[in-house]
Amino acid sequence: MIRPILIHPDPRLKKACAAVGDLSDALRQLGDDMLETMYDAPGVGLAAPQIGILSRVIVLDCDKEEGVPPKPVVMFNPEVMASSEDTNVYEEGCLSIPDQFAEVTRPKEVEVRWIDRDGKEQTAGFDGLWATCVQHEIDHLDGKLFIDHIGALKRQMITRKMQKLKRELARKKDA
Ligand code: NI
Repeated sequence: MIRPILIHPDPRLKKACAAVGDLSDALRQLGDDMLETMYDAPGVGLAAPQIGILSRVIVLDCDKEEGVPPKPVVMFNPEVMASSEDTNVYEEGCLSIPDQFAEVTRPKEVEVRWIDRDGKEQTAGFDGLWATCVQHEIDHLDGKLFIDHIGALKRQMITRKMQKLKRELARKKDA
């Protein structure tokens, strides 16, 4: 089921999310819904708080080339275990901050540990867009957005645009 995506600013996007317990069918369904919502948007990552669920769940698929089979990944309780000193600058966006982009510097490579859909613990290294994306999504679980990594002026400008967008969307809904 495709779920509505919250638009910044929203208090639910600023909250630290709770770890999930033992995997249940409800949690697996949440992961499936998040993937469906992400692909529909379309985006390369989505975190549970973006659909108003304050649990540590993220989904990603950062293989953007045409014609490659989808590589959906669902992570429960993901944690960055190690980060490279080398950094990478990537122009990031966010489904909760539509049509706004800014350069963000992050570690180039990270090692991440998580619980997979089968309840098994996994550890893997990520680089390139996958590294950027997994860090961006884990940030969401701590109430942090990519605009929290950029200068205050640009952040305020983007936030004002989002407030305007939300007013317009609310008007359309009322009309
Ligand atoms: Ni995001």
